[in-house]
Amino acid sequence: MTTARDRGTRLSVQGPVRLHGSVRVSGAKNAALAMMCAALLTTDDVVLQNVPRISDVASLSQLLRELGASVDEEVRDDALALRINGSGVATSDAPAELINENRASFQVIGPLLTRFGRASAPPPGGDSIGQRPIDVHLWGFSQLGADVVRQDNRHVVLAPTGLRGARIFMDYPSVSGTQNVLMAAVRASGRTTIVNAATEPEVQELGGLLNAMGARIKGLGTQCLEIVGVDNLHGTTWRVLADRIESGTYAIAAAMSGGDVFIEDAPVTVMDALLAKLRASGVETLVEPGGIRIRAMRPLKPFNFQALPYPGLPTDLQAPLATLLTQAVGTSTVHERVFDNRLLYIPELLKMGAEIQGSGSVAYIHGPSELHGAKVRALDIRAGVAVLLAALVAKGTTVVEDVYHLERGYDHLEEKLRTLGARVERID
Ligand code: UD1
Repeated sequence: MTTARDRGTRLSVQGPVRLHGSVRVSGAKNAALAMMCAALLTTDDVVLQNVPRISDVASLSQLLRELGASVDEEVRDDALALRINGSGVATSDAPAELINENRASFQVIGPLLTRFGRASAPPPGGDSIGQRPIDVHLWGFSQLGADVVRQDNRHVVLAPTGLRGARIFMDYPSVSGTQNVLMAAVRASGRTTIVNAATEPEVQELGGLLNAMGARIKGLGTQCLEIVGVDNLHGTTWRVLADRIESGTYAIAAAMSGGDVFIEDAPVTVMDALLAKLRASGVETLVEPGGIRIRAMRPLKPFNFQALPYPGLPTDLQAPLATLLTQAVGTSTVHERVFDNRLLYIPELLKMGAEIQGSGSVAYIHGPSELHGAKVRALDIRAGVAVLLAALVAKGTTVVEDVYHLERGYDHLEEKLRTLGARVERID
């Protein structure tokens, strides 16, 4: 895998199509990235299976290598198997360029702090979807006894005599914040309680891995995590759960195209919020052995939804679901309640003929619109996939620019869409 991003790559999409067939979902990006960081907590090998082949994984692998870890990768069953060994890690200062590549990289701080009693990194990068503070992460570290200072545009976290367990209230149930503080707490002395923890499946997955490495965490999946610190963690092998956001993306694509698609490996038990909305729209969601079948007959019915922390509807599916609503008959309201600037895709959809009024965090969508091809940009991972979904049902040719955003989060997206009958070509 390479982290090189060819910023000139575009996709040409011919629509409309009705998707049909079967697609296999890859491992969950936001779980895999946190777990790669967790491998730094031990000097043994940690083997992660079913890791998605995406550029965020490639850039985090590079970051781990620059810190001194070894990351051996192998492609098995259309997924990556990573063998990570952190025994050679010699520095606790994360390199700036790679932290900027994606936000998950900031999660090396928790493990490095645990291992070395200090860690530093610049503020993290990621999508431009609104304010992305890290106060929750830093607050958690400080409650565990660390000093947090700002030096040369880096956050430096210091705990030379080790971390000690504490009761920590998180102002917001931040996903990566909970993951980061959890990784710092597992080897802190005594007992830690994290109140208002994120309950997302990707946090639960990380907790599962940490317990398999010897940690003692209880309450995973609830808003209150109880951690008893242990002296050491050891290696293990873990298969990453399938990606609920990728599954949801294919489910939405199938539904809005009036298609019939089997989504293999879809983690249906963590997809309730989306499946309920699809059913409200008149889409059939049939849980079958090994996955879920999505079958839709147009016209779709409109519905209102709010993007919320888990188990609410995921903010990462807000833009794709809003795109589906351009095809529903009537007016729908979308309320983004997790990030403050996540409606940036609206002007791109307007270029394709959508009728949407957006202001602040609320959008009103009037459908059905007969979408047409246009030149549009993928503004971030999910805004990008939203315009790609629109292109599948639009008449004519759509050219999607800045495809590197899609490569950050979707494993072999064009190939998978092509197996479902989409006419998508890469223009390098
Ligand atoms: C993660 C996911 C991202 C997803 C998001 C919400 C990764 C790599 N990315 O991002 O795909 O969209 O969860 O499900 O896992 N906040 C604070 N202080 C903080 C941290 C966050 O106020 O210290 C606020 C943010 O401004 C935002 C909200 O919390 O409004 C959600 O952010 P958070 O849960 O931290 O998202 P990420 O972990 O960055």
